[in-house]
Amino acid sequence: DKGAYPYYMLKEVDEQPAVMRRIVSEYFDQAGNPSVDEAILAEMAKADHIYIIGAGTSYHAGLVGARLLEKYAHIPTSVNISSEFAYDRPLLSQKPFFIFLSQSGETADSRQVLVDVNEHQWPSLTLTNVDKSTLSREATFTMLLYAGPEIAVASTKAYTAQIAVEAVLAKALGMYLADDQAQAFDLRAQLGAVANGMQAITDSKEDLEAIAARFLSKPRNAFYIGRGLDWTVSIEAALKLKEISYVQAEGFASGELKHGTIALIEEGTPVIGIITQDRTAGLTRSNLEETQARGANAITIVARHLAQDNDTIVIPDVDADLTPLLSVVPAQLLAYYTSLGKGLDVDKPRNLAKSVTVM
Ligand code: M6R
Repeated sequence: DKGAYPYYMLKEVDEQPAVMRRIVSEYFDQAGNPSVDEAILAEMAKADHIYIIGAGTSYHAGLVGARLLEKYAHIPTSVNISSEFAYDRPLLSQKPFFIFLSQSGETADSRQVLVDVNEHQWPSLTLTNVDKSTLSREATFTMLLYAGPEIAVASTKAYTAQIAVEAVLAKALGMYLADDQAQAFDLRAQLGAVANGMQAITDSKEDLEAIAARFLSKPRNAFYIGRGLDWTVSIEAALKLKEISYVQAEGFASGELKHGTIALIEEGTPVIGIITQDRTAGLTRSNLEETQARGANAITIVARHLAQDNDTIVIPDVDADLTPLLSVVPAQLLAYYTSLGKGLDVDKPRNLAKSVTVM
C-alpha cells in the first residue's frame, strides 16, 4: 500500500534510511561485528576470483560491491552483465566464486548463468530481496536484502540495500581473512551516518523538484559524468532518468567525454557531474567546465567537503567507498520529478516489466 504517496517510487526512495537501519540490525551483533554465515565466508576465502553477476540496476550495484570486496578481502573481483556472461563466458580462474545480485531473484538472464554455474558445481551466493525466489533456491547460499517489497519498476531501495549488504560481506570476509583495514572499518556507524544523510537528502525534495523542472523537463538528452565510484553511480543515475522520464540519458566516465561524446553537447544540454572522491574531484570539475564552454547546463552533486560556492546539490560526507549510497538519492529524485512533471506513469514506464523473466 502506498499510503499518502502518489507513487510507489517516491515511497521507496523515502524508505531508504529505514532500510539501512534494518540492514544494520539484521547483519550486526551487539558488539558491532558483522554476522554473516561462516560457511559463506569459508567458501569465499577459498576463491581466487569472485564473479559478480547482475542485470540493470543490480549490475550497477555490483560495480560498487567489487571495489569493497577487493579493498577489504583482497580477492580480484569482476562484475558481469548476466545476459553477456550467459552467452559469452570469459576465461575463468581456477577457483571461482559467484555472487548473483537480483532484487527479484527471478531475472531469467541471471538464472541462465546460475544454471551453468551449478552444472560445473561452482559455489555461489545470491543477494536478493525475495526469500525463496528462484535465484535464492538454486544458489549455494543466500543473503537477503531486507529492503521490503519494491513495487515501482525503477529500482531504488534495492540498489542501496545491495550496496550495503555487499559492504557487510566485504567487511565480514576481510575480518575472516584477518585484514586490519576490514577490522578497523566501522561499517555499523558508517551505515548509521548514511541513513541520516539519506534522510537529509529526501528532506530536500522541493529543491530537487525545482532543479528537475528547470534543467531536465525540456531537453531530449542528458549526461551524468564522474570517475571511479562516481562513474558507477552516473550509469545508474542515467538509467533512472531514461526508464521513467524517457530522456535519453547516458552515464559517462568523465575522462572519456573528450574522446568523442563531447560532440553531442549543445546549448542547454544538461550535464550532471557527480563529485565525491578527493583524487578525481578536480578532474571531473574541469571536464564539466569543458562541457559548459560548449553550452551545457552544468549541474553538480557534490560531497560536502569538496563543495564550492556554485554547486547545485551538496550531499553529506560519509566514508569515501560508501558515497554511492548517498549520491544516487538526488539522482533518483531528479528522475522521479522529471517523470512526474511530464505527467508520465512513474511506477509503470512504457515497455518495461518489474521482473524480466524472458531472455
Ligand atoms: O530483479 P533484478 O534485480 O534481477 O532486476 C534486474 C533489472 O531488470 C532491474 O534492475 C532493472 O534494470 C530496473 N528496472 C532498473 O531500475
